Amino acid sequence: MMTRRQALAAAAGLSVAGIGACPAMAARAPIAFGSAAEIGVFRDDPRYREALKTHCDIVVPMNDLKWEALRHERASFDFSGADELVAFAASNKQALRGHTLLWGEALPPWAKTLSTRAEAERELIGHIEVVVDRYKGKIATWDVVNEAIRFDPREGGPFRDTIWQRLLGPEHIEIAFRTAARIDPKARLVLNDFSFEEADGGTAERRKVALSILRRLKDKGIPVHGLGMQAHLYGDKTIDSPGIQQFMRDLAALEVEVEITELDVIDWKLPADAATRDRAAASLVSAYLDAVASVRQPKAIVTWGLSDRHTWIDETFPRKDGAKARPLPLDVDYKPKPMMSVLNRYRRGAS
Ligand code: G3I
Repeated sequence: MMTRRQALAAAAGLSVAGIGACPAMAARAPIAFGSAAEIGVFRDDPRYREALKTHCDIVVPMNDLKWEALRHERASFDFSGADELVAFAASNKQALRGHTLLWGEALPPWAKTLSTRAEAERELIGHIEVVVDRYKGKIATWDVVNEAIRFDPREGGPFRDTIWQRLLGPEHIEIAFRTAARIDPKARLVLNDFSFEEADGGTAERRKVALSILRRLKDKGIPVHGLGMQAHLYGDKTIDSPGIQQFMRDLAALEVEVEITELDVIDWKLPADAATRDRAAASLVSAYLDAVASVRQPKAIVTWGLSDRHTWIDETFPRKDGAKARPLPLDVDYKPKPMMSVLNRYRRGAS
């Protein structure tokens, strides 16, 4: 008999209809919830581990499956951090998302010296073969390619200037997906990127580029199952609900699922008062998830951390008043905030 968590975790890992699901049904089915886990905090803070265990159907190693963590040396792999988080999730019967097989950042120094097409292709394929093979049957979903789209595609073309794009061109995306599918045909393979939420020209172009990448993979018969929308939402900006809904319809037409992969709220421009910020963040998350789920049932909703105590946002988006960011569903003492209630509503499934 499957527990509820196992059922949700399985749903997070397996493909369900979801495609073009009618809004009523899309809003009602439970959606697996999870969080990224940073290994240093995981090892040091028992409350962090407890919160992951209590609140999550899914765990995502935040950094330990990146090249920077796995490949200190060119000739070897260091799986210590990833193995620890994979074992933790398995012991709690939680699903796992692998982040990420190819990214232009978080690379070890030696990878930045790759200089020919042949060398880049050999290293990329070799890396994906070893990593995906190791976690076959354990990691159900992979962010195969992370952040391949140029921040504003209207300025300089569709693809981000990374070593992979420079040496392999757009084909780097196909090589990564084709290799991952060859090694683990059962894995769900996802294209992961950010900034699909706002009503501006750059966002509209980013959505178009995402759709063209996905269409190109599909046309070539290369397996791609989902688009991962990171959803680092800006607290001071408006959600483009009509634009998101149309984007969801376009993805449905391509038969590509959607999942929210790094949800948090960048509140650096919101008022200092904690209760005000928490309410604003919760309503922004609700507006965003309602826009997505009104058209497509996300496969999963994952936040980029669980507690405000540990977030990348403090460093990257520091508040002028020096106050700590409040981007996540739990406060610094691991107490649920209004955002947790919104996420739980989706985790339970709307009544
Ligand atoms: O663990 C080492 C530690 O031993 C060392 O002393 C310290 C100082 O060098 O670095 C620590 O590693 C850092 C790691 O975070 C853990 O804190 C890396 O330098 C640092 O680069 C890494 O930053 C991560 C960043 O991605 C780059 O990989 C952030 O934690 C992580 O939240 C962030 O996540 C990204 C997603 O992968 C992609 N989407 C955007 C998101 C936010 O930037």
